[in-house]
Amino acid sequence: MRTPIVAGNWKMNLDREGARRLAQALVDGTPGNGVQLIVAPPTIYLSTVAEVLTTAPILLASQNVHWAASGPYTGEVSTTMLLDLGCRYAIIGHSERREHFQESDELLNRKIRSALDQQIHPIICVGESLEGREGERTREKVEFQVRAALVGVSAEAMQNVVIAYEPIWAIGTGKTASPQQAQEVHAFIRTILEDLYGRTVAQATRILYGGSVKPTNFPELIGQEDIDGGLVGGGSLSAESFLSLARQAMAS
Ligand code: PGA
Repeated sequence: MRTPIVAGNWKMNLDREGARRLAQALVDGTPGNGVQLIVAPPTIYLSTVAEVLTTAPILLASQNVHWAASGPYTGEVSTTMLLDLGCRYAIIGHSERREHFQESDELLNRKIRSALDQQIHPIICVGESLEGREGERTREKVEFQVRAALVGVSAEAMQNVVIAYEPIWAIGTGKTASPQQAQEVHAFIRTILEDLYGRTVAQATRILYGGSVKPTNFPELIGQEDIDGGLVGGGSLSAESFLSLARQAMAS
């Protein structure tokens, strides 16, 4: 039985007061057990949000992390700094970071291994472009990214890994993969995990769907056998929408 996750990626949105208010509204409305809620505010507001979440059952994630514990890396944030704030997750390999900041599969693997070593749980994003989808190369692209991300990651460490399938053509575009399209790729990712780590690990790993998730399309997505939750951008910026997604995940 995989507990579903609904994770909000706030990206580069909100101001400090807005971040504080959104976090407070989530704390006030959190539906309780049966779903793991995670929020990823902009790095600069992590501590503001951490102060609001305190003992609430909502976990904090970073949108990025460096591989080193400290050092001459201007502008970066380390795993130890995140742990210092009580941040337990980090989104790694988001397509926006791969595209706009040239983060390679090799670099991402380094970040993932370092995060796991430091007990930060990576939410590893993979997904094909529109070109990849139209050229029927979805499986090839996704398989390459999954295998590259997990080089050197042990079966034991996999209990702390979450994977997010986010077709790039569905991110922020209002286009969602159909439940069948998403399920097919999720099931495929699980076969890759089974090949790498065996059936028990493959069955235990949470695989989230991301890309224009909202309360109107989420019930059908979360109803699919291999979809264990959502990584949500735009739909996580309103407490009402995010909490509604949380309740839908609980009911799935
Ligand atoms: P979106 O973003 O929900 O706004 O499409 C999802 C994501 O980028 O994680």
